[in-house]
Amino acid sequence: MASVSTTTPGTDWEYAPAPESREIVTIQREYNLFVDGQFVPPATGEHFTTLNPASEEPLASVAQAGEADIDKAVASARTAYETSWGQLPGRERAKYLYRIARAIQERAREFAVLESLDNGKPIKESRDVDVPLAAAHFFYHAGWADKLGYAGLGPDPRPLGVAGQVIPWNFPLLMAAWKLAPALATGNTCVLKPAETTPLTALLLAEVIAEAELPPGTVNIITGDGSTGAGLVGHPGVNKVAFTGSTEVGKQIQAAVAGTGKRLTLELGGKAANVVFDDAPIDQAVEGIVNGIFFNQGHVCCAGSRLLLQESVADAVLDRLKRRLATLRLGDPLDKNTDIGAINSRQQLDKIEGLVAAGEAEGAQRWSPPCRLPAKGYWFPPTVFSGVSQSHKIAREEIFGPVLAVLTFRTPEEAVAKANNTPYGLSAGIWTEKGSRILWMAGKLRAGVVWANTYNRFDPASPFGGYQESGFGREGGRAGLAAYLDA
Ligand code: NAI
Ligand code: MG
Repeated sequence: MASVSTTTPGTDWEYAPAPESREIVTIQREYNLFVDGQFVPPATGEHFTTLNPASEEPLASVAQAGEADIDKAVASARTAYETSWGQLPGRERAKYLYRIARAIQERAREFAVLESLDNGKPIKESRDVDVPLAAAHFFYHAGWADKLGYAGLGPDPRPLGVAGQVIPWNFPLLMAAWKLAPALATGNTCVLKPAETTPLTALLLAEVIAEAELPPGTVNIITGDGSTGAGLVGHPGVNKVAFTGSTEVGKQIQAAVAGTGKRLTLELGGKAANVVFDDAPIDQAVEGIVNGIFFNQGHVCCAGSRLLLQESVADAVLDRLKRRLATLRLGDPLDKNTDIGAINSRQQLDKIEGLVAAGEAEGAQRWSPPCRLPAKGYWFPPTVFSGVSQSHKIAREEIFGPVLAVLTFRTPEEAVAKANNTPYGLSAGIWTEKGSRILWMAGKLRAGVVWANTYNRFDPASPFGGYQESGFGREGGRAGLAAYLDA
């Protein structure tokens, strides 16, 4: 598949294709479940297909775990908690986590190519963001494993037991690392369920975990659809549930877990405001806006999907933003020059198309740069809506795609009111030269993460999580440890 530039042909110089080789990774025809340290066929006898969303080509057949498989995985995690992993001192657990971190680094290209194939994200993102951050999460938490008594959570915080963890498809390996690393560092054992459209890097991670010789059952990775996820979080042998995904499923899980005594953290959707003041460095802000909403095709819970522009600079910023968007390259995710890859699934593409149609029907102005979409696969062009009002569906609902809704404001108070006018509260961005305004805004914004003069920056030491319908609990940093400890 050729890489397609969004710029008008003839008016720019074309890039030669620069594809990363897919030979580095060997994809098996069929994958089984990783339970008790081994790959075992599912008791259901069922498998499903995961495909490459950029070409619709099937990549592999993956096991569908059912009730008996979940039972086995949870029982194996329980045994490991009681007899092996749960008995190890922190300094021993740390050694295993360092081993996993180093193995991810050593096999980084393999992980990156596999992630881009299964998910559709550009190789430059999987290579420079997802995989290095996944390794960083294991390194960071390895450092904590023998120092938990000094984390400010009491002298001897205890693990919770077996963690049931369900993750989404937008950052498959990275979300696996966000879930597994803190759980293991704190002495818990895990049953992890990756998303059905992107199971392959978690299964490669299972291989790494087996090679790192963690005691069998410490980490179990079971694939399947939503019913597998529901079976896992509802299993009576699970002590802690951690979920990242849609607000809708998060609410179902909260209801299922209520009254069971299980500990719960939910990291759900978002509709973040990225606020640009008239004193902001405009070129820098434009880069931040692009990164905020077009990074990972906008499949980002903390995406800056609502752009709030101060009225006096709104036209100038929009103008420069459009010029910048005309230079983005959409196409083959394995091409190193690609900025925008494929939409992860047909289902997600349908959702984006539906919300964009609603935006047009409600009277907002839709704009995209000239952009040819590849014939095969799931694609959506970078899209900007201006003339958006707060009541529009595209200003309220999470689109989870490369679609930006632009609103304006006059005063800082109005910016705060508009930014907070959402049922979500995961993240926000502020662009201004004034440090005092950054501090004032950060205190007023109802968002778990507030970035100033940057956007979508992640670090394992920095807690991440939301308010309201974005969920509760924090991941990363000291706060993230607390979610896996009885302190
Ligand atoms: P989803 O919430 O259905 O899927 C996320 C994970 O939950 C997957 O592993 C899925 O198999 C599992 N799951 C589904 N139903 C479950 C249940 N009843 N109990 C336990 N686990 C269950 O999200 P989906 O359908 O893939 O995406 C729908 C929308 O959700 C997106 O358009 C986006 O707006 C939002 N979303 C938000 C994410 C975030 O990072 N906050 C990630 C993925 C989706
Ligand atoms: Mg896939």
